Amino acid sequence: MNQPPKFAAGLGPADTAVSPAGTGGRAIPSAEPAGHGARAIQGATARVAVLGASGYTGQEFIRLALDHPGIELAALLSREHGGDPADAVLAGLDARARTLPAFADAAALGRLVADQAVDTIVACLPRGAFRELLTRDDALARSPVRMLDLSQDHRDGAEGFLYGLPEALRAWLNHAQRIANPGCYPTAATLALLPALESGWVADPVMVSALSGVSGAGRSGALRTSFVELDGGASIYRAGTEHAHVAEMARNFERLAGEPLRIGFTPQLAPMARGILLTATAPLTRAVAPAEARRVYQERFEHEPFVRLLDEGAWPETRAVRASNRCDIAVTTLHGGRTLLATAALDNLVKGAAGQAIQNLNLMLGWPEITGLPRHGSPW
Ligand SMILES: NC(=O)c1ccc[n+]([C@@H]2O[C@H](COP(=O)([O-])OP(=O)(O)OC[C@H]3O[C@@H](n4cnc5c(N)ncnc54)[C@H](OP(=O)(O)O)[C@@H]3O)[C@@H](O)[C@H]2O)c1
Repeated sequence: MNQPPKFAAGLGPADTAVSPAGTGGRAIPSAEPAGHGARAIQGATARVAVLGASGYTGQEFIRLALDHPGIELAALLSREHGGDPADAVLAGLDARARTLPAFADAAALGRLVADQAVDTIVACLPRGAFRELLTRDDALARSPVRMLDLSQDHRDGAEGFLYGLPEALRAWLNHAQRIANPGCYPTAATLALLPALESGWVADPVMVSALSGVSGAGRSGALRTSFVELDGGASIYRAGTEHAHVAEMARNFERLAGEPLRIGFTPQLAPMARGILLTATAPLTRAVAPAEARRVYQERFEHEPFVRLLDEGAWPETRAVRASNRCDIAVTTLHGGRTLLATAALDNLVKGAAGQAIQNLNLMLGWPEITGLPRHGSPW
């Protein structure tokens, strides 16, 4: 199990450029990696098999990978769609733009790996399915093939998987063989609190509350996520300490703060397709003025390409980060500096899942971290 220490690593000054208007004149990371995407990769290609390719995160991964210069989508695997042409399953795909293989049966994975037709597995399966596959197939479990698991199965570090939150643990992820991609809520919560946790300011209980778009529940139909049950309302579910993401947040917070912190979590379902809007509050170990909190956050995230600290007085909104790999954050303190109020917005299918998976894959392959990833949101 990986036990990373605290990291305060940014991408470094080499990745910065002059800021455009509207960012307060700050230097921000360049939209282009040093040497620029395709040319920077020079010949290296990952031959990727996508498991669960028909689901929401699988389809989003494919959409992003199609524009990535180093990813060859070698196999699209599904239990139900084996033999179907890719454009018959993947909504929005223009098959004229890039040739994709037809969907193959999920059972073909072992042979594809044995034949070295793929060197990277991106598992976009429901909880338990990928872990079960590795338990059943010993040759696959022992194979040196790269594995990126989007489910929560290996986020505790099981089976040699490293926890893939680049902004916190980048130094551990370079050239990793197996990465467990973080959950969407824990990504938003951990980024919202990261500088405060690393600074040792945060006392408990940490209270986290978040709205989620319905794609967070996956593609399989359920009454609770049907249009009639959702339209015109919002609801709280599994509030308290019950949600599976509480344990993941607790692990992250403890790693970064160096001590365990009690957490309360109130997830909410909102009638929107994608997006997470999160608020975290916590008592502070000492009085921290709002300006100090902002300064520390600004310094910590200054060179992070996918984290934007909003200008004072501005608050995150889901539409601004929709379809981008960015997480927007705003922070202040209340009650004479004794309470932290940190907020975040991200797209659960991109920075919360498939985009972060590409970010991790870039690190695994030693490619510029921002290769192939959208920085800008698509609000409307
Ligand atoms: N949705 C999000 O916002 C989000 C964010 C972060 C992490 N995640 C995690 O990512 C994973 C995938 O989520 P998703 O939203 O993409 O789910 P999804 O839309 O339900 O898709 C999962 C796909 O896996 C396949 N599948 C379903 N049950 C299976 C089983 N028992 N064994 C093997 N394959 C099965 C299905 O494809 P076929 O029927 O074609 O095989 C299905 O399309 C989950 O573990 C989820 O927790 C999701």
